[in-house]
Amino acid sequence: IRAHLTVDPHFVVGPINRRLFGSFVEHLGRCVYDGIYEPGHPSAGPDGWRADVLELVRELGVTTLRYPGGNFVSGYRWEDGVGPVEQRPRRLDLAWHSTEPNLVGLDEFAAWTKLVGAELMYAVNLGTRGLQEALDVLEYANIAGGTTLSDQRVGNGAVAPHGIKMWCLGNEMDGPWQLGHSTAGEYGRLAASTARAMRQIDSSLELVACGSSGAQMPSFGTWDRTVLEHTYDEVDYISCHAYYEPIDGDLGSFLASAVGMDRFIDSVIATADFVKAAKRSNKTLAVSFDEWNVWYKSRYENVDRITDPNSWPVAPRLLEDTYSVLDAVVFGNLMISLIRHADRVQAASLAQLVNVIAPIMTEPGGPAWRQTTFFPFSLSAQLAKGVALELRLDCPSYDTVEHGEVPLLDGVATYDATDGSASIFLVNRSMDAPAQVEIDTRALGPVVPGMARTLSDADIHAANTLAEPERVGLADNSSIERDGDRLLITLPPVSWTVLTLN
Ligand code: AHR
Repeated sequence: IRAHLTVDPHFVVGPINRRLFGSFVEHLGRCVYDGIYEPGHPSAGPDGWRADVLELVRELGVTTLRYPGGNFVSGYRWEDGVGPVEQRPRRLDLAWHSTEPNLVGLDEFAAWTKLVGAELMYAVNLGTRGLQEALDVLEYANIAGGTTLSDQRVGNGAVAPHGIKMWCLGNEMDGPWQLGHSTAGEYGRLAASTARAMRQIDSSLELVACGSSGAQMPSFGTWDRTVLEHTYDEVDYISCHAYYEPIDGDLGSFLASAVGMDRFIDSVIATADFVKAAKRSNKTLAVSFDEWNVWYKSRYENVDRITDPNSWPVAPRLLEDTYSVLDAVVFGNLMISLIRHADRVQAASLAQLVNVIAPIMTEPGGPAWRQTTFFPFSLSAQLAKGVALELRLDCPSYDTVEHGEVPLLDGVATYDATDGSASIFLVNRSMDAPAQVEIDTRALGPVVPGMARTLSDADIHAANTLAEPERVGLADNSSIERDGDRLLITLPPVSWTVLTLN
């Protein structure tokens, strides 16, 4: 494959919001318990946090953490998770057919978020609960003191208010699986009145309305439109959720999942802009892509799901997907899609962080390790700085069942005007052919290549596991050469690459 690309700092899409590199921690399976929190683990301190996991989370570079769900939040009573731990109730978690011991709650998670160095993004329960409980948790979390709820937080040891800025108004309320699932009109009215009331406490909050749980939802489009007709003036973001997996072994379509993500984002933006036009509004809505990943959902649905009415385990092994090189290439391409939409996608949360469809895995009492998806996430979070640039990329295409004709390569660049550096993120979707890419960097001035790292493997199904935690990693791409004004780089089949220019 031969390809040509032009990088030009004038082709600006928009500034990259650091919130694009967020993640998500749900009370689900072993994400919290036996994940970030495992008292008794050799690396855990007196607060029960695993230091080895914390270190990997910092290395991953996540900027925000969405919490506490997910489907879990739609049945959650936030007050169960605060106050003396020994007095906290144990509850059935209907979303994941588990028992929630409430050993970790809002105050503990806020403290852990600080240790990570990230921003907490909180979801309120609009499934089994409503406006009053949203106000209560906001007052508990953010008011400095002097009211019963805020003083309760101070009394519980969290003296400083948590200062949570971003709030999700429920979760996936379009999904029949969601506790309290409602129509778009019902949810839209509730979300709008909850948002208005929350703004009476603090008008500067940033609020996220639930958009569709995926472009495949039968209500996709009309759900988003109706919800926004109710909430447009009250919220700042509409959420998108999307998970990708190979369907019937069709790897060609799977490798082009980012084309599906691009189209999903474009459709949601078009819908939001339609409502903007119909309302003659001056406000432009942003997208919070607050759940995205590769997820072998069919494995959960057909194998792991707990249905026995007598079985309500604490922290069962759920959604523990092992990610291959192939998955990580698709994943890296999804990040390219998010970055390419930086003008409108201003927040995103990789679902999830530890053990549950996660870049970091742990073994109780044992080690923690990086999955293949860890690498494109950490390098994108570290190197995508400044503004996103649209690339001019000419390459051959191939045909897919799901997305039609798609380019064999995909990419995006970022440019940091403060030091004139650029990063180029590239994916080769071909299953068998390497791609030689000629990069025209003339518009950037006299740049020199810095780091060039590639994720690929002769075995695209290779993965990191407990038995072999470092089987897959990034390698330096030594193919890079200068040819006059151009750079040449070779991308192996099924690969993700980042190249920096200084
Ligand atoms: O991330 C796993 C689940 O996927 C979340 O709980 C839910 O919001 C989505 O369906």
